[in-house]
Amino acid sequence: MRPTEFILVLDFGSQYTQLIARRIRELGVFSEIQRFDFPIDEILKLKPKGIILSGGPSSVYEDGAPQVDEKLFELGIPVLGICYGLQLIAYKLGGIVDKFAKREYGKAVLRVIKDDDLFYGFNSQSVVWMSHGDALIKEPDGFEVIAWTDNSPICAIRNKDKKIYGVQFHPEVAHTERGDEILRNFVYKICGCKGEWNAEFFIEREIEEIRKIVGDEKVICAVSGGVDSTVLALLLSRAIGENLIAIFIDNGLMREGETEEVLKNFREIGVNIYYVNASEVFLERLKGIFDPEEKRRIIGRTFIEIFEREAEKFGDVKFLAQGTLYPDVIESTSYKGPSSKIKTHHNVGGLPERMNFKLIEPFRELFKDEVRKIGRSLGLSNEILNRHPFPGPGLAVRVVGEVTKDKLEILRKADKIFIEEIKKANLYDKIWQAFAVLLPIKTVGVMGDERSYEYVVALRAVSSQDGMTADWFRFPYDLLERVSNRIVNEVKGVNRVIYDITTKPPATIEWE
Ligand code: XMP
Repeated sequence: MRPTEFILVLDFGSQYTQLIARRIRELGVFSEIQRFDFPIDEILKLKPKGIILSGGPSSVYEDGAPQVDEKLFELGIPVLGICYGLQLIAYKLGGIVDKFAKREYGKAVLRVIKDDDLFYGFNSQSVVWMSHGDALIKEPDGFEVIAWTDNSPICAIRNKDKKIYGVQFHPEVAHTERGDEILRNFVYKICGCKGEWNAEFFIEREIEEIRKIVGDEKVICAVSGGVDSTVLALLLSRAIGENLIAIFIDNGLMREGETEEVLKNFREIGVNIYYVNASEVFLERLKGIFDPEEKRRIIGRTFIEIFEREAEKFGDVKFLAQGTLYPDVIESTSYKGPSSKIKTHHNVGGLPERMNFKLIEPFRELFKDEVRKIGRSLGLSNEILNRHPFPGPGLAVRVVGEVTKDKLEILRKADKIFIEEIKKANLYDKIWQAFAVLLPIKTVGVMGDERSYEYVVALRAVSSQDGMTADWFRFPYDLLERVSNRIVNEVKGVNRVIYDITTKPPATIEWE
């Protein structure tokens, strides 16, 4: 499902590899990452317009350092080596890499010697970001130095005829002032890309591709109302219409009014939903369960069981669509030796293996914000697209300890008030995730003239880029006060509200 025009990024274990792919896509050219040892014949089949060799933590002289097949430099496909990628080019083609070089981290001033291709438009100095141990002390024959810094006299090289380029610094990071221009020059001027990749192009291609793969067969998918599964269902319904079976399993762990809202949203976007109310089964199985992981396992298993049962009603369905994203696919791109595996996660864990489905995962190369862009192009409203993430196990991991109907009821009411006030204050879109948590303890309070002994609600709101790290959100005190007042006044069973001011790490976003 690749566009005809794309840039292949070979990963040598840099923490910035994903960033390279992203930057290229932001420039309007599709980009995809493969391991450093991706075979040459596969590369030839894919016909990328250009190849980027990422950085990496190794030294080219190290035993077991990731290598590249020299044939890569004879394919006639332009190559750009970044940091370790540059050192590898030099090492493989007869240059000299100094492993005793002074380590260099942070800013450096780049001075360009040749500004007619990779550094086109660079007529003055600019700041670049370095992060390397080894350095080049001699360029390979046939190469020329095209830029230098005080610490790296050979900071960028090229072989113009063979279209092989290398830079010591990291053009993909934001600290490199004109990094985007360098990548743009590589992609457009050197690789000759036209810039076909955007949301509309992606949609057109995927629709065509899905039709080709699926033909007249049916495709099943599970929807939750979240961004990824909603965009997925909409894309599939554009591609195959009535042959899409979108199943929404209500596990009874949704937020206040959420089921109705999800059904309404799907009605509005014209996707037929097969609704299954399985609340009772889920709640029954969660009775007496206190351990968070056990709760997750029970919910996961029950989900699969119900999905299988419902899917059977549609006869012989061969395809399962999932909204798997790139971060789900690549658990870690860091190179830890040839045995390191790229793990594949599945949103609906276990389903494909158990049911022998063929998988359709149109978003497996994309990041969440790219899926949002596609959703926007497909006409989804901002209200749907900007919804905060919601965990698969739903409110079960926000009722700490045993989940009961009564506790869920209390939590729903408190959560609704919190979100209402955040929206009223126009802060919803500034927050990654905000929610209430019901704690399994009661504390003493005084209401009217009477002693009360009720539950504690914790509020959690965080800002984050990707959910991997998070900071607690700084609310104005008066908002917190309003939320607290409303919750203790309006929600029976709660007499105390607290605000969680822990970052991730060391805490996680969810409490369980
Ligand atoms: P944590 O709590 O690990 O959460 O900091 C990071 C992000 O992942 C979501 N989350 C889950 N999503 N199934 C999901 O689909 C889960 O079991 C699960 N646990 C956490 C969480 O809401 C946050 O966005």
